[in-house]
Amino acid sequence: MSDAKLQAVLSSLPQGTRQLDALPSNGPAPDKSFVKLNTNENPFPLPPIIMQSAVAALNRQYLYPDDDNISLREAASSTYGVSTDQVIAGNGSSELLGLIYRAFLAPGDKVAMISPGFSFNRKLAMLHGAEFLEIGCQTHSLPMEQLLSGPAKDAKFILVANPNNPTGTFLSISNIERLVAQSDRLVVLDEAYVDFAPDHGLRLINRYSNLLILRTFSKSYAAAGIRVGFGFGHPEIIGRLRNIQNVFNMNVIGHAVGISVLAHRGAYAENHKHIRHERQRVTAALSQLGFSVTPSHANFLLARVPAGQDGSWWQAALERQKILVAYFPDNGLEHCIRVSIGTKEQLDAFLAAARDIVGSLNIPGTTGRGASGSARSVR
Ligand SMILES: Cc1ncc(COP(=O)(O)O)c(C=O)c1O
Repeated sequence: MSDAKLQAVLSSLPQGTRQLDALPSNGPAPDKSFVKLNTNENPFPLPPIIMQSAVAALNRQYLYPDDDNISLREAASSTYGVSTDQVIAGNGSSELLGLIYRAFLAPGDKVAMISPGFSFNRKLAMLHGAEFLEIGCQTHSLPMEQLLSGPAKDAKFILVANPNNPTGTFLSISNIERLVAQSDRLVVLDEAYVDFAPDHGLRLINRYSNLLILRTFSKSYAAAGIRVGFGFGHPEIIGRLRNIQNVFNMNVIGHAVGISVLAHRGAYAENHKHIRHERQRVTAALSQLGFSVTPSHANFLLARVPAGQDGSWWQAALERQKILVAYFPDNGLEHCIRVSIGTKEQLDAFLAAARDIVGSLNIPGTTGRGASGSARSVR
């Protein structure tokens, strides 16, 4: 049915908004029977003491959360040893990424990201009509020359996720410091997975005014659905971001959980131990099955699938067994899948399905269960 008014309204959208239609969507939410290992959540409940503060916050549901997230920012400032005006709080760190793009970019500007990287950035760049430069980084050190000269030299900011998503690789903080020291661009250091890594960059924050660090409570603090994120940087830059932020961007539960997590970070020791242990166990098990796993410093694994099929084939084969993993169709990751570190039971189910699939493929030199019944159809 043609709707002339709707067409007129849609055609008034700027090109950046319309271009987003071309990007792949996340697809429908899976039903609860699926084992969900595709978006790097932390699968455990909140520690009881933090859950109590979330429930108590529900009794304040009729109030707006406090202005400018001040109580949460103050709590973060004392936990992380920075001043309150060096902190911005976000409805997840992705809100803060969005603010950075909105604050710094005009159509035609350039933004540079270490690649492969967090794909949401490509969407944000497109939305703002920016040129998105993906700077390949295959080794354990930043491609300094490419970042400091050539097209990236003019980028409005440079994005480095450390540990990186989707690779799970970790760059030394001295390597990152070299970039921040030598560049006059804003360097956005996205530390979404830092609590699973050996080091972090926050100690650089008072030394370099061109460094902006992002953190989230979605991964290491099991609060993805509650949406708590932080940015740390120079007060002038943080102030500009706060200026353009939505009023009441967070909610009372996010504030309460954020403050409680900051007070009880030790309550996650077992959780983080589990993730490190399972990361190692699943790496070894996948290697035995013929996968090649990138050593990970995050709560997920990037695994190159055994020869013969690509990552998309594996994603579909696992989905038929009710296991969801992530697949990235570009940046040389066509033969990889990314698997989040879930509970032991979830990962056992994933490994059993992977064994079954490898067995049905009869790949020489692997230790799948052997073909059981008829071979699976190969797409
Ligand atoms: C590198 C990276 N940064 C930021 C985010 C966004 O996290 P959130 O908005 O939940 O804080 C993610 C989520 O997957 C991520 O992988």
